[in-house]
Amino acid sequence: MTKLTKSALEDLLKLARKAAEHSYSPYSKFRVGAALQLTDGKIVTGTNVENVSFGLTICAERTALVRAISQFGPKIRIAAVAIANLNGLPSPPCGACRQVLAEFILPDAPVTFPMADGVRSVAFSEVLPLGFEMNLK
Ligand code: THU
Repeated sequence: MTKLTKSALEDLLKLARKAAEHSYSPYSKFRVGAALQLTDGKIVTGTNVENVSFGLTICAERTALVRAISQFGPKIRIAAVAIANLNGLPSPPCGACRQVLAEFILPDAPVTFPMADGVRSVAFSEVLPLGFEMNLK
């Protein structure tokens, strides 16, 4: 796994927490933020946006990813991800977000998120070991 310096990781987590302050989560009250560091150093953040039709909710990680593509185009690659929540609870990325991140993230990219025993950093290839791929011949 590629490693960020301690201060770079702290900065990325701080931006994820800041993004979580904008969370629209009146239904779950679970306020999540994500910060993506791109390979060129740019950072893009996102928060969860819920909907009264619960299934239409968008997670913080996918919000950040969609923002990144929209701002900088489809050639971006994600070098690191930090996830935070303001509820003091574990929040590893959900399965749907893992599959969506797989499209743009480096396998070695550290994904950092809170767990019950503290903040954990795991290489993306371990976060999603058998993601769906489609290689039609
Ligand atoms: N949520 C995220 O933002 N990211 C995840 O990876 C898991 C869940 C949000 C969606 C919903 O607004 C709230 O957390 C509770 O599921």
